[in-house]
Amino acid sequence: MGKPTPAIDPNWFQQSVVQWYEKHGRKHLPWQKERSPYRVWLSEIMLQQTQVKTVIPYFERFTQRFPDIQSLAEAPIDDVLSLWSGLGYYARARNIHKTAHIITQNHKGEFPRDTEGLVALPGIGRSTAGAIQSLSMRKSAAILDGNVKRVLIRSHEIEGWSGKREIENQLWSLSQRCTPTTKCRQYNQAMMDIGATLCSRSKPQCEQCPLNSRCRALAKGRVDELPHRKPKKTLPVRHCQMLVISNTKKEIFLEKRPNSGLWGGLWSLPQIEFEECPEARCLENWRFNVSETTKLPPFRHTFSHFHLTIQPVTLRVKGKPRVSEQTHPHRWVKLSQLDQLGLSSPVKKILIQQQTQ
Ligand code: ADE
Repeated sequence: MGKPTPAIDPNWFQQSVVQWYEKHGRKHLPWQKERSPYRVWLSEIMLQQTQVKTVIPYFERFTQRFPDIQSLAEAPIDDVLSLWSGLGYYARARNIHKTAHIITQNHKGEFPRDTEGLVALPGIGRSTAGAIQSLSMRKSAAILDGNVKRVLIRSHEIEGWSGKREIENQLWSLSQRCTPTTKCRQYNQAMMDIGATLCSRSKPQCEQCPLNSRCRALAKGRVDELPHRKPKKTLPVRHCQMLVISNTKKEIFLEKRPNSGLWGGLWSLPQIEFEECPEARCLENWRFNVSETTKLPPFRHTFSHFHLTIQPVTLRVKGKPRVSEQTHPHRWVKLSQLDQLGLSSPVKKILIQQQTQ
């Protein structure tokens, strides 16, 4: 673990956030009207990966049909799913139904008040537990959703990708150090609101932020750079040769790729291993006698899961290919006919270069 980040004076941080809440924070969201654990829990689950404005009508319909945990537990799952329909991530709907059963059967219809009891319920993680405790139970508890993470990362200039366990742990301890023991409801709501409205990923409105005078990312001009994104995986590199075989009529030899796999069903230049001898393969595969061979500059084509270095090789040949059209569909094409064929982009690139030769 890296060394812990010294927190910006937690008293100043909390006070600034809570003061901002009194003036600018959201106070009239539907789940803030009657702040029961049931309503706050439901809203928090709906708000996972979904924006406030999308959630509001769903929340209204849902709580009208299921005003309490009892009515939700007694409902058939199909009714729950149909009211959830359109919100996406349906595992959330199944989890709230399961949780409603557990609470009515094992907890006398009341939500557990302690973190361990809450996180044991399906669909409730540590941050959702903290939100339920602080927003509906008058308890002080830290939260750490995506919006709160961004505020903490920028204000404290935390390096690294927050999806990594080590960074996540660092953020949890920072969130705990910053969370006040009183007015935690206001503080947590404000952190979520600041993250969603002012400290947005792109175009943040730092001039309106209550933390701007001590925000470390702002002071160093690093607001756009933080939070660090998920590091890109280094992709493996493969190599191949693509054979540009032309006959005396200046036509190019193409093969149809098998329907499944890379470039399935497209017309393509014959492709061979990087180490193979192109002339030998021409003779072996098609009985072509090669009169002239030229290596063109290699280039790279990137797929989602690997890079392919392509070495194009031009070969002049005489005669017809001695290979069955049935088992190895192939054709000769004029460079002027290329537009009519489905070609992969690297093949297109090579053949367009040939047009200018
Ligand atoms: N996102 C998650 N919880 C929220 C809340 N209580 N208010 C606004 N956005 C939220």
